Amino acid sequence: MPAGRQDKILLLGGGGQLGCEVEQLARARGLSMTVATRETVDITHRLAVRSVIDQGYSLVINTAAFTAVDRAEMEEGRALAVNRDGAGFVAEACRDTGAAMVHLSTDYVFDGTKGSAYVETDPVSPLGVYGRSKAAGEDSVRQACPRHVILRTSWVFGAQGSNFVKTMLRLGRERGEVSVVADQLGCPTPALGLATAVLAVAASSSDDDWGTYHCCGNERTTWFDFAQAIFAEQSALTGETAPKLHPIATEDYPTAAKRPPDSTLDCLAFQARFRQQPIDWRQGLRDVLRELQGGRQVASAGRA
Ligand SMILES: NC(=O)c1ccc[n+]([C@@H]2O[C@H](COP(=O)([O-])OP(=O)(O)OC[C@H]3O[C@@H](n4cnc5c(N)ncnc54)[C@H](OP(=O)(O)O)[C@@H]3O)[C@@H](O)[C@H]2O)c1
Repeated sequence: MPAGRQDKILLLGGGGQLGCEVEQLARARGLSMTVATRETVDITHRLAVRSVIDQGYSLVINTAAFTAVDRAEMEEGRALAVNRDGAGFVAEACRDTGAAMVHLSTDYVFDGTKGSAYVETDPVSPLGVYGRSKAAGEDSVRQACPRHVILRTSWVFGAQGSNFVKTMLRLGRERGEVSVVADQLGCPTPALGLATAVLAVAASSSDDDWGTYHCCGNERTTWFDFAQAIFAEQSALTGETAPKLHPIATEDYPTAAKRPPDSTLDCLAFQARFRQQPIDWRQGLRDVLRELQGGRQVASAGRA
């Protein structure tokens, strides 16, 4: 795969939390990257996708997705249009123009009942529309574009966009007490760590690397323990008083979409193949909280 300074890379979904981090990291490393947001390239429009990829890229990174897990239950057509069909349009165009493709997927392709960390060869069994649409998107990419890497990740958080960390901080300021689900397990993933992984894939040069990999934070936890870590770090950083946290069961927090009880991903194959260290989500959390405190601005030059 490419990603030398002379290579042309296209990033789709550049307005999202992962997309923002990939763009900033690429820029910091002096990589040539064209960034498209939903406004400039809607991946559900086959011709728009084709016409931008026809401009000649060696690598296309697709972070664009419909990520609203509960809303997907009500908007199945939209979720499938973006996550299945859109991913397929990107993959087709990559194949036809000779570009390689890096595509993002999710731990929610699994039902969470395995009882140990999922490896890449475990069969998918999504519980909801979002997971089904992402599993279908994986299939679209595999069928259309042999030169692909699919990275399945989980519980992504960063300073940009919406995520659990920012929701917890907001709720903590609005209320003195917050109830958090304590019986779902997974791996938080800092968006910057994931962006680093994406660019490691982009920099790889071996044709043996194509395939599906798991890539997330290093240590599994529950949403409740994650919330505790967020407030402990925030208090240490700012002196803010943490709200009182109450652990609750999934059944006490009804949501439109069913979530997997334990979607822990085993990332050893990814780390070995791309020679990457585990992503330390606790350090990533401290970095994001510091960044939110400092109010980093995202540059937006070089967009498609
Ligand atoms: N966030 C997580 O916890 C998580 C967990 C597991 C896997 N993932 C996967 O990781 C990837 C990146 O997620 P993220 O957290 O960065 O999500 P995000 O913040 O929701 O970003 C997704 C971006 O895609 C854009 N988008 C939506 N529909 C589009 C379309 N039709 N054409 C072009 N762009 C479109 C969105 O634009 P608008 O905001 O304008 O709609 C948004 O900027 C996705 O593949 C996601 O499925 C995320």
